Amino acid sequence: MAVSNIDASKLTTTLTQTPKALFDKNKMSFGKNFTDHMLCIKYTEDNGWETPEIKPYGPLQIDPAAFVLNYSVETFEGMKAFRAEDGTINLFRPEKNMQRLATSSQRIMLPEFDQEQFLQCIKELVKVDQRFVPDEYGYSLYVRPNFIGTEPNLNLTYSREAMLYVYLSPVGPYFPRTVKLYANSKLVRAWPGGVGNFKLGGNYAPALKPAMDVVAKGYDQILWLLGDDHYVTEVGTMNFFIFWINDDGEKELVTAPLDGIILPGVTRDSLLSLARQWGEFKVSERKITMPEVVRAIEDGRMLEAFGAGTACVVCSVSEVCYEDNEYTIPVDPSNPDAVFGPLTSRLRNELLDIQYAKTPSSWAVPV
Ligand code: COI
Repeated sequence: MAVSNIDASKLTTTLTQTPKALFDKNKMSFGKNFTDHMLCIKYTEDNGWETPEIKPYGPLQIDPAAFVLNYSVETFEGMKAFRAEDGTINLFRPEKNMQRLATSSQRIMLPEFDQEQFLQCIKELVKVDQRFVPDEYGYSLYVRPNFIGTEPNLNLTYSREAMLYVYLSPVGPYFPRTVKLYANSKLVRAWPGGVGNFKLGGNYAPALKPAMDVVAKGYDQILWLLGDDHYVTEVGTMNFFIFWINDDGEKELVTAPLDGIILPGVTRDSLLSLARQWGEFKVSERKITMPEVVRAIEDGRMLEAFGAGTACVVCSVSEVCYEDNEYTIPVDPSNPDAVFGPLTSRLRNELLDIQYAKTPSSWAVPV
């Protein structure tokens, strides 16, 4: 018997009887406030995907022996909805998140799902809770899809039951200032043949302890290195970019390649595309090592460094501690108070203009 796939036309909606007040923008710290509703779609191997449901936001009922609770069969996504000046709401390149969710879920044996139909259901959820989409530049509605294995079964096979669910959180700036990174060759996030390029909850949990140790030392995040040559991979919540004058004397924007170690970020991809469209300097996806970064800082060839991700958008790096030595990275030599360097700021503004539909682009997808 053919199992059914997600059918957005069958979506049912049950509205909350107790709508929440809108959240105060000044207290909108990342990921702590949730809107009125959530989307749930259940799956069983025998019957396929059930009817998608939008219902009041609230606890899930999961069997204590569920795969997700024992073996971390979980993948998630992060995307954002933005309110344009004319009031319309757009998601940013949501098809990229659907593709990445599909790729991550295959890695942990979660079932296939129809990406377009799932996205259609997400758009409906955003429409139902559209009053929560902030109307201020720099603020947005963070959309968090989760995909979990729910079968109660302790055998290490695969989960024959699953659930996709999505909830929404109005957010402001993740880092409203420059960030300080901590790099140490003993701290490793991912390795060849591993799962660093999949957005699995299981990649984040083991990073919590080293990340909190680094915060206790006064840094914001870890800059993860790999291997004997201290290859620079990515930062806790973002991909890492440097803008420098390379050994050949050329201006170059560089980020790590998609070699299975780093997360294929949607913001990463978007910034690379924008910079390539400008055609003003070399844009590379290639391996760079921490000793090369340090040499560039010491020689005055490091122009800017920044992180990029959905949650944090783009943020300048002002300091890096490497093997217990502190290095200052210039943010904007012409402005000691600058939060963004000149290139970082230009990339950020072009990206935000597309996200808030000030610049027309197929990347902004109406809900
Ligand atoms: C995002 O940028 O959307 C992420 O998923 C990072 C998260 C760990 C805050």
